[in-house]
Amino acid sequence: MYAAQTTVALELVNLKKDYAAPDGSVVSVIDLEHLAIADGEQVALIGTSGSGKTTLLHMIAGIVAPDSGRIVYDLRGLGGPPATAASVAASTPLLDYRGNGAPEPKSDLFPQGVTDIATLSEARRDVFRGSHVGYIFQTHHLLGGFTALENVLLGMSFTGRKPDRAWARRLLDDVGLAARADYKPEKLSVGQQQRVAVARALANRPKLVLADEPTGALDPATAQQVLGLIRKLCQEVGASLLLVTHDLDIAHQLPRVLTLSEINRASKPPTTATPALTTDH
Ligand SMILES: Nc1ncnc2c1ncn2[C@@H]1O[C@H](COP(=O)(O)OP(=O)(O)O)[C@@H](O)[C@H]1O
Ligand SMILES: [Mg+2]
Repeated sequence: MYAAQTTVALELVNLKKDYAAPDGSVVSVIDLEHLAIADGEQVALIGTSGSGKTTLLHMIAGIVAPDSGRIVYDLRGLGGPPATAASVAASTPLLDYRGNGAPEPKSDLFPQGVTDIATLSEARRDVFRGSHVGYIFQTHHLLGGFTALENVLLGMSFTGRKPDRAWARRLLDDVGLAARADYKPEKLSVGQQQRVAVARALANRPKLVLADEPTGALDPATAQQVLGLIRKLCQEVGASLLLVTHDLDIAHQLPRVLTLSEINRASKPPTTATPALTTDH
């Protein structure tokens, strides 16, 4: 149950994605009727390998387009004064640029509207992601030619806004790497690299942070530290968090835990075990 004033940050409705298998058959990977994540909520999503976790996060981030369904972000809770009936009416309407020939506004960063990114072109989804979504991968995905600070600043470079160096330094300080700001990734430990990746994901004060097995490559103590930083920084910027993991100890530290196979109609029921041959000895 959400508190009375809580608003939904992200809502998925009838989201579907099929992939073609090598033999040409069509495999349904995601078939999700409904999922809502509230403003500032922190949700863990558990799933076995191959169950479609990354596919789901890629669709939510706009990296991959769904075959059908809605991926609705409500940015009205972002900063600024609370939404009023008038501001909602005046906010960005649901956009549909797909195939309708309408020109795409270039600089609009979807500042306060309700946006179904499934209706946007790939280029517009990229702009949306750069402005409002933070993504943390299992491995850091930092750019090797750039320092830690530059990597965090690069996280700001897709928005059209001026990079905020003070905020980037503050984030590196928050993840305990103020003294490593000028180090390139190869000079950092795996845990430090992942902490830079956490700082980068928060660089734009995103509406939502998506973390795909963010602690999967770390030892338990470092995993715990990185999880704590992700949660703290999301709280600090008011971002919602959807964290995918197959580690139950990690998942159960978050206030809400979902199991993908329980909400994904494309999940195959567990294969019935072949009855054991009875051997009466
Ligand atoms: N681009 C693709 N083309 C075909 N099949 C894919 C593609 N991406 C993922 N799949 C398939 O979709 C299923 C889910 O993959 P994925 O989302 O990566 O799972 P998870 O992250 O839970 O391990 C797997 O069976 C995988 O082989
Ligand atoms: Mg995956």
